[in-house]
Order: sequence, then C-alpha cells, then structure tokens
Amino acid sequence: MEQIKVSSEADKVEIYRELLPQLESLVSGESDFIANASNLSAALKQALPHASWVGFYFMKEGELVVGPFQGKVACTRISLGRGVCGTAAAENRTIIVRNVAEFPGHIYCDPDSKSEIVVPIARDGEVFGVLDLDSAAYGSFDSVDEKNLERVASLVEGLIGSTSRRR
Ligand code: SME
Repeated sequence: MEQIKVSSEADKVEIYRELLPQLESLVSGESDFIANASNLSAALKQALPHASWVGFYFMKEGELVVGPFQGKVACTRISLGRGVCGTAAAENRTIIVRNVAEFPGHIYCDPDSKSEIVVPIARDGEVFGVLDLDSAAYGSFDSVDEKNLERVASLVEGLIGSTSRRR
C-alpha cells in the first residue's frame, strides 16, 4: 500500500517539497481519473495539517459538481460564478480567502470553515474543475499553498481524459 510520508514537524514549504514527488508517484502507475483524484485528495488531507477539507469539483453541464474529497459532507452542486469555487472557475484564477465571512457569496458547506483556497484545473484555457481546500483557522492559506497547489492542479490537468486502463 502507498504511504504518504512527511515529517510532522516540517513547515509548509518543507511539507510540499516532500509531498509533491510522492503525489506524482502516487498517480504514475494508474490511469483511472477518479482513482487518482481520490488518492490525491486523501494524500493532501493527510499531509496538510492546516486543511480541514480537501477535494475536487468538476464542471458538468455548466456547473460544478463535487468529486473525490476528504472531509465533511459538502455541497453537491455549485453554479459557475457562485461562491469561492464558482468564482475561481468562472475567472480561471486561484482565490485565497483569509476569512470566508468577508467573501461575498461564500457558500458555507461546513460551518467550521474559516479560510479557503480554490485553484482552477484547466486545459487549453477551458476550466475542467477546481481543487478546493478549507481550513478551520483564519488565514491558513498563502502564496506557498498557491504555488504548490497550482502544481497539483497541473498534475491533475495531465490526467484529464485518462481511462481506466493500467499504464
Ligand atoms: N466554500 C465553497 C463551497 C465548497 S466547500 O467549501 C467544500 C465556496 O464558497 O465555493
């Protein structure tokens, strides 16, 4: 079984430095998209102590539908342009929210969520979905998360269209 290993005392930069190669390795032997997205959400949740919810929303018929995630039950569908996820998808840009109460239209899936980061997953300029992380503390996400989670989004972008065959 794959193990995700990061030092519990490592700071955020070090956690991502150790984690990213492991995420690449985690998906390298498997081409099933849902399997890989599921394990990526689990690995991120396991490795990032500041994240209370980690998961994907994917575009389906013009709206975001929840995909593989780790955390409490979440909103199933989010319209494009609504909430942090729908705004990040509509504008194809990463959004960091230090205090969710201050983001107009933020959607409360989990009342404990205090801050959030949403990174779009896009191919050829077309948004395919988003990677969403919540935290139970204010101001948990910063440019370190942005840079590294955008790398995770790139990894996912490379998996779009993969089939259920083993590589
Ligand atoms: N807070 C998000 C909704 C998704 S959950 O956080 C899992 C939003 O405003 O889009």
